[in-house]
Amino acid sequence: MTIPVRAYRQVPAEPLRGKVVIDTLNYDPARLGHVPEIDAGNTPPHLLLQTHLPGSHVVKAFSSIFHRHLATLGRPEGAPDRSTLPIAGDSDDAKRAVATLIDSLGYDTHDVGPLAESRRFAPGTPAQLAHLDPDGMFAAPGRPVTAAHLITLLTAHGAS
Ligand SMILES: NC(=O)c1ccc[n+]([C@@H]2O[C@H](COP(=O)([O-])OP(=O)(O)OC[C@H]3O[C@@H](n4cnc5c(N)ncnc54)[C@H](OP(=O)(O)O)[C@@H]3O)[C@@H](O)[C@H]2O)c1
Repeated sequence: MTIPVRAYRQVPAEPLRGKVVIDTLNYDPARLGHVPEIDAGNTPPHLLLQTHLPGSHVVKAFSSIFHRHLATLGRPEGAPDRSTLPIAGDSDDAKRAVATLIDSLGYDTHDVGPLAESRRFAPGTPAQLAHLDPDGMFAAPGRPVTAAHLITLLTAHGAS
């Protein structure tokens, strides 16, 4: 699911029942619009889609990498500069399926835990910004992020 968060109510729940849904969303009200229920503190942004799709297996993934970098940082399995992407979700089977997909794109995955733990790679956290060169931001080539480095960044922002 890659749409502005403000459009989440238009995602049809019934056809997605029982399916794995990859949630790439980052709440960025300044760029993509406000969501009143988030701003009121009723639902944390990282749980919004799963709350809207209670019958689906939502896995947070791809939210920590700019799409242009996703296209250039993929590497074969075992390459020293292969990157690791964080994933989180409440279904182990769904996370396994998403990890297989991500592996096919040239990335390892690190399972951060239940969906609620995706707060550790929420917008603005070190893990979410890891691929960005602070000097060039989105214009610069993305930086590879190894598993060890990712875990250090995630740990800095929550329990191990
Ligand atoms: N861009 C990235 O590299 C990136 C990386 C990580 C996470 N994300 C997250 O992914 C989400 C989307 O970001 P984006 O940059 O891809 O945004 P975007 O380009 O503004 O929108 C993505 C898609 O959403 C569709 N869309 C817009 N309004 C819609 C609506 N009301 N109902 C259904 N579809 C609608 C657009 O379709 P039309 O073009 O047909 O309007 C477009 O194809 C955000 O939460 C963002 O934080 C993006």
